[in-house]
Amino acid sequence: MTKQMAARDTLGGTFTLPGTSMTVNRMGYGAMQLAGPQVWGPPRDIEAAIAVLREAVESGVDHIDTSDFYGPHVTNQIIRQALHPYSDGLVIVTKLGARRAQDKSWIHALSRQELIDGAHDNLRNLGLDTLDVVNLRVGGIMGPTEGSIAEPLTVLAELKQQGLIRHLGLSNVTPAQLAEAQQITDIVCVQNLYNIAHRTDDAFINDLAQQGIAYVPFFPLGGFTPLQSSALDRAAASLNATPMQIALAWLIQRSPNILLIPGTSSVEHLRENLKAATLQIPPETIVQLNAMGESPVQE
Ligand SMILES: NC(=O)c1ccc[n+]([C@@H]2O[C@H](COP(=O)([O-])OP(=O)(O)OC[C@H]3O[C@@H](n4cnc5c(N)ncnc54)[C@H](OP(=O)(O)O)[C@@H]3O)[C@@H](O)[C@H]2O)c1
Repeated sequence: MTKQMAARDTLGGTFTLPGTSMTVNRMGYGAMQLAGPQVWGPPRDIEAAIAVLREAVESGVDHIDTSDFYGPHVTNQIIRQALHPYSDGLVIVTKLGARRAQDKSWIHALSRQELIDGAHDNLRNLGLDTLDVVNLRVGGIMGPTEGSIAEPLTVLAELKQQGLIRHLGLSNVTPAQLAEAQQITDIVCVQNLYNIAHRTDDAFINDLAQQGIAYVPFFPLGGFTPLQSSALDRAAASLNATPMQIALAWLIQRSPNILLIPGTSSVEHLRENLKAATLQIPPETIVQLNAMGESPVQE
């Protein structure tokens, strides 16, 4: 039995990406924090970054979210250095559709050539022949913008047909963009900004759950502005946990199609985050926590 299979119960149960044989533990890991400050250049301590990745996989994490524009290139290269050759069943999810400008800003890279070059950069830096899952990243980091995504998605669908990509997902999209995408190719996951305090996607999550599609919230802990609230503090005190663990456990309980990719550069925080998958928040506390959100949870 692999470590990943042994961790089925301790990492929040499993989810199978629709139409695939990829079953992952619901508690995964987001690798963005492994690059240097402002997600640029190498980390201050590369050995520490490697240790985080190895401990995650040792603990049974079998879903790592990354991108070649973290660093740029740096995060994927660290993943390769730490984990290659990859264990069976490890699913590495990457993104195409953005690049970094010299001023460290994040800009779209949605032309045909940029997408093809990006796919090859990921393959080379991760040391893979095929990318497990690629999210087409459109829109802005704080939210999607409506508009057709057919052109760039068609390019990724071609790369899938050519065998460079196994499965496709979307990032920073609206329900209308998902519907458009599904006319072009199968979509296995959606990655948007969502956490206990930022709940614009509540109805979208329920719709995706009905379709069996994974919803992978980025900034589950608030991202660059870590979550802070008295409701989280109270729940944490009553359950002998930390506020960050409450935020993650709330997501696990929110919907069975939610997969978690909290980011950290620290082994201590990684351990704390993984433990959140076994935390049970009682229903009355969930009700109190729901008041933190911007929109009521619609079941
Ligand atoms: N699709 C997109 O457009 C997009 C955008 C952003 C992110 N993402 C993905 O989403 C993943 C998660 O997002 P994220 O890392 O930006 O944000 P996050 O998971 O919400 O939060 C990460 C921040 O929380 C801190 N942290 C982590 N665990 C902690 C703990 N137990 N206690 C206290 N602080 C803790 C981290 O600092 P330490 O390093 O000190 O622990 C880091 O500053 C990323 O890794 C990336 O793969 C995708």
